[in-house]
This record gives sequence, C-alpha cells and structure tokens, in this order.
Amino acid sequence: MSERKEIKIDDAELAKQKDIMLHLKENNNMEYQKNGKYKNYFIITFGCQQNVSDSEKLMGMLDEMGYQKTEKREEADVVIINTCCVRENAELKLYGNIGAFKQLKHDKPGMLLCICGCMMEQEHAVATIKKKYRHVDLVFGTHNLYKFPELLERSMNEIYTLIDIMNTEGIIVEDIPVRREDKFKAWVTIMYGCNNFCSYCIVPHVRGRERSRNPKDIINEIKQLAADGCKEITLLGQNVNSYGKDLDLEIDFADLIKMVNDIEGVERIRFMTSHPKDISDKLIETMGQCKKVCEQLHLPFQAGSNRVLKEMNRKYTKEEYLQKIEKVKKQLPCVALSTDVIVGFPGETDEDFEETMEVIRKVGFDQVFTFIYSRRTGTPAAEMENQLDEKQKHKNFEKLVKLQNDIGKTINDDYLNKTIEVLVEGPSKSDETKFTGRSRTGKVVNFSGQGDIIGQLVRVKITKIFSWFLNGEMVDELV
Ligand code: SAH
Ligand code: SF4
Ligand code: F3S
Repeated sequence: MSERKEIKIDDAELAKQKDIMLHLKENNNMEYQKNGKYKNYFIITFGCQQNVSDSEKLMGMLDEMGYQKTEKREEADVVIINTCCVRENAELKLYGNIGAFKQLKHDKPGMLLCICGCMMEQEHAVATIKKKYRHVDLVFGTHNLYKFPELLERSMNEIYTLIDIMNTEGIIVEDIPVRREDKFKAWVTIMYGCNNFCSYCIVPHVRGRERSRNPKDIINEIKQLAADGCKEITLLGQNVNSYGKDLDLEIDFADLIKMVNDIEGVERIRFMTSHPKDISDKLIETMGQCKKVCEQLHLPFQAGSNRVLKEMNRKYTKEEYLQKIEKVKKQLPCVALSTDVIVGFPGETDEDFEETMEVIRKVGFDQVFTFIYSRRTGTPAAEMENQLDEKQKHKNFEKLVKLQNDIGKTINDDYLNKTIEVLVEGPSKSDETKFTGRSRTGKVVNFSGQGDIIGQLVRVKITKIFSWFLNGEMVDELV
C-alpha cells in the first residue's frame, strides 16, 4: 500500500498531546483526593453528524484527562460549544449561548469556556468573539481538534482569549480517544471535507478538501466496535460516494461497503451523505447484494428545476436524479428514501418551486429535510443579485412541508400489521414499560416485549402508526 498524499502530524506531536492528557489527569486526580470532587465538563453540539462525531472525540479526550461529563452547565469546569454555520439560525443560537455563560462564569470563577467547530473557521466569527465576548477562554477550529489537550492546558494560564485556528487542512489524525454514547450503534467517519462547492454552501470552506481515511484504519475501528457489541454502523462523510478518490489505492465506496459487510458481528450498515452525481451503478448493486446494508438512503436533491440546479453547481439534472432513484428502488424495493431540499434559492421562481414539489410527489420520500435558503458570506450564491424576500420563501416552505406531511403519513400507514426487524436500543423514553429501537428503514419503533433483549434484533408486529414513530408488539424470539 502506498502512502496517502496529505500532510501527516508527526508522532512527536501526538505523543506531546498524550503526555499533556496524562499530566492533566494526574492533576485532576490530585484535586479529587483533596476535596472529593471530580472536575466536570459540559458540551453543546450544534450542526450535523460530523460535529457530533468531533464532539465524541473531544469528550473522549476529556474523559482521558480525568474530567467527568455533566448535564448541568452550572457545575461545569470546562464548557465546550461546538459550532455550525451552515445556516444563519445556527449562528444566532451560538451568540445567545455565549452570552448566557457570562453570568455562569462570574458565579464560578475558573470555569473555562471553549468555542470550536465550523463557525470558528470563519474569520468574521472569530473577530466577533474577540471583540464582543471577551469572557471566552479558548477558540479553535475543525482542523486542530487533536491539539485540544495542549490548548486547554495553555488557556488555563491565559488572561485573554486563546485563539488557535490552523490553516493547513489536509490532515487526518488517527488514535484520538472517542466517547460513544450508544453501545449498539456507532457513526464511523470514513472521510473528511468536501470538494463539491455547491454555490450556496459554506461546508467546503470550513471543513477543507476531501480526505479519505485509510481503509485499514476504518476496518480496524469497526472490528473493535463489533467486538465490543456494536451491531449497527453508519459510515459518515459529506459525500461518501467519493470515498477513496484521493487515496493511491484501488478502492471505492462500494468496495469499502463490501469489506464492512464481511465483518463478523456487524448486523446493519448505513451511510450518509450521498451525492446524486456520484452514486454509481456499482454502489447501487452493492447495496442490493450486501445483506447488511439497510433499506435506507439519504439522497439530497436540493431543487427540482434544472436551471436552479445549475446555478447551485450540483452537476446533475432532475431527470438524472429521478433515474438514479428508479435504479435504487429496483435493487431495494422496500427502500426508505430521504432528502434535503432548499427553498428560496436566489432567483427561484414559482415555476422552479413547482418542479421541486413535482419531484417530491414523484419519488415518495419517507422524510424531506426542508431548509429555507440562508445567505452565507463567502459563497457565490451570496453574491447573486436576485435574492428572494423572506415572505415568499416562508410561503413556499410551508407548502412543501404540508405536501410532505401527507406523503410521509401514507408511507407510514403501510407498516400497519406488518412484522419487521427492530434493533432494540433500550427502554422507551415515553413509556418505561416498553422498549424502543429502529427498523432497518430507520423508523423509531416502541413496543412491548420481554426478556434480556437490549442490543438484540427482534421481530415486532406493528399495531399503531404515529407521525414520528410506530407502536408494536414483539412477536417471537430473536431474529
Ligand atoms: N454534504 C451533505 C450535507 C450538507 S449540509 C450534502 O451535500 O447533502 C446539509 C444540508 O444543508 C444540505 O443538504 C442543504 O440542503 C442545506 N444547506 C446547505 N447550505 C445551505 C444554505 N446556505 N441555506 C440553506 N440550506 C443549506
Ligand atoms: Fe455542501 Fe454541496 Fe458539499 Fe454537501 S456536497 S457539503 S451541500 S458543498
Ligand atoms: Fe454545520 Fe459544519 Fe456540519 S457547518 S452542517 S456542522 S459540517
């Protein structure tokens, strides 16, 4: 196997982080012996699964350093806010949160407030924090997460906000400790970054170019998860279909799926996100052949009008999208489809919007994530002159949501009286006498059952349909 092309963080740098973690752990243990209390951390995560995955690493490092997780912000010694900037409302939420911590820090001197994530990769956001929110102790970005122990230690001794944003974006750092909240299902990042530069989107600007992890590292991680009892793996990346293109290896995403399918103990495979331009026939066939691949696909189409798709730089047409969907349905007749749609892209006319509605009617998605277009500084679409007014955008948004609610309900109704496979995740949150889990198609199922079934696959007969979940009864032994 040849080496990957990107810059490597050298072993000495990683050893340094490990030393600092050890050192902080000793300090924290000493504190505990002195006053019988562990130091706590509190973490808020905005944005997509990529950020959730980064937060799992930050928590892994904090656990390693002898901190304990708390759900009460006022008890925290270290607070982390992991930010998102994909739409404006995500940014506004952040500023509200930072403001609220001013009083808490005042009441608990020594509390460290750390802000990280995608939004911190934008100069204007960092400048705002520097100017208006001086009570922030540490700011870091998405590319230097591995350096968190060192930054945390340094910020303890700084009076001013410590800011460390790394410009190199070509790195992958393995072996960072991870704290996973779920025992039976796990998200595994297979690649970072995005090369697509859709004209509305900030993600490639804050997450850097595509870099695939080495397949050996991915497979080893999944084997370990399976050995620890994990049954369901979701392979994660902004565009998983281009996995491997940047490696000097003969491997693509379909090959990777086959390798994961062969791992003993893994029972279910999911992945996201797929880009319609890159979803290949080979991948669709592999989905049909590999029995562990769940009947579920998230394939964002964003807009139905070919003119808008071109302006968005999506590189496919409505017709091509619909053809791919047909192929998927042929391979996996019971597939649950979901998508993302943007309403109100600059210059979108009523006719354009009608084409989006048409795609939704034609495909029959289980779920549509609808977003009102948000102007992102630094993206080409933000410079377009024909921005729409908010009223128009909201009107269309509501039309679309209503249409999808009706379609989603009809699809769910089909589950009534059917018996399906459920991976049991634990007791139901709303009713302690019941269990909860998910179907292969990703539906939440609450059901009555008995025995030691948490973490197992069971059969459940669906008895009642709700908008966001299904109710049922376990019908026989394990699958
Ligand atoms: N890489 C994934 C997800 C990207 S972000 C993909 O390409 O599908 C998730 C969703 O946010 C996108 O699919 C898009 O629908 C939405 N989005 C991105 N930028 C946006 C913007 N400026 N305004 C509104 N929605 C946006
Ligand atoms: Fe953004 Fe497009 Fe990349 Fe998705 S594929 S992250 S929408 S640029
Ligand atoms: Fe947001 Fe960053 Fe994800 S901008 S949507 S958290 S990649």
